[in-house]
Amino acid sequence: MRKKVTVVGGGFVGSTTAQRIVDMELADVVLTDILDGPPAGKALDMMESGPITRTDARATGISTSNGDYSATAGSDVVVITAGFPRKPGMSRDDLLKANYDVVKAVVEQIVRHSPNCIIIVVTNPLDAMAQAAFKVSGFPKNRVLGMAGVLDSARMSTFVAIECKVSVENVHSFVLGGHGDDMVPLPRYSTVAGIPLPDLLPKDRIDAIVERTSTESRDCSSAFRSNWERRASKKLFRLS
Ligand SMILES: NC(=O)c1ccc[n+]([C@@H]2O[C@H](COP(=O)([O-])OP(=O)(O)OC[C@H]3O[C@@H](n4cnc5c(N)ncnc54)[C@H](O)[C@@H]3O)[C@@H](O)[C@H]2O)c1
Repeated sequence: MRKKVTVVGGGFVGSTTAQRIVDMELADVVLTDILDGPPAGKALDMMESGPITRTDARATGISTSNGDYSATAGSDVVVITAGFPRKPGMSRDDLLKANYDVVKAVVEQIVRHSPNCIIIVVTNPLDAMAQAAFKVSGFPKNRVLGMAGVLDSARMSTFVAIECKVSVENVHSFVLGGHGDDMVPLPRYSTVAGIPLPDLLPKDRIDAIVERTSTESRDCSSAFRSNWERRASKKLFRLS
């Protein structure tokens, strides 16, 4: 029997997560949102692309506007993407109070319906929200994860691959610290085919990659949301 994954929040991140899981046939997916309509429509689209992507995974979309989480019951994994995204000029920490209320309410429902699941938190500010989910759930620490480090490292690898004109398969990057403006990309531990970046690139190019890795998510997520940001992001996307 296929595993069951619930994705809470059917916006940009939640829909993409659900789509990837279905396309790779990793699990059956329940996509939830407080909005009525969009989760069901998106889930139907995912299912109907199954004959093209050759997947039999099932996708179901439900609204939890009435507080009913029963369709998520027995999930093996719950990915929480619900919450408010940043607007231009906001830091991740500006989202703290509003998204804490969302994450707390979601986790209480998840614990009730899927007491044995693994929770993966995506909602920002990520580190605080992962900690909140850990406390509210009462789950052991190995069942509450925050998703961000893998994204930050992947971003850095993307920029290294562009700069060096190599495949991303040859690049391994290392970013430590929280998911925020104080993250720490580590060039010396980041390699192209085993060669550390300082042995491969001049300092100013490495500095540009480090700077872009730290600021990209802020600029990238806002870029979806306003013309002003879209214009700004075009400049940022020109690395050299
Ligand atoms: N950790 C990371 O690396 C990372 C990367 C990208 C985005 N994020 C964060 O993920 C979150 C989602 O980003 P997005 O771009 O998908 O935003 P989005 O606005 O596109 O989607 C958020 C969705 O959450 C829904 N929602 C709000 N409250 C809810 C609730 N109580 N229950 C269920 N659904 C609810 C909204 O209706 C919306 O559809 C944001 O907090 C964003 O900052 C984190």
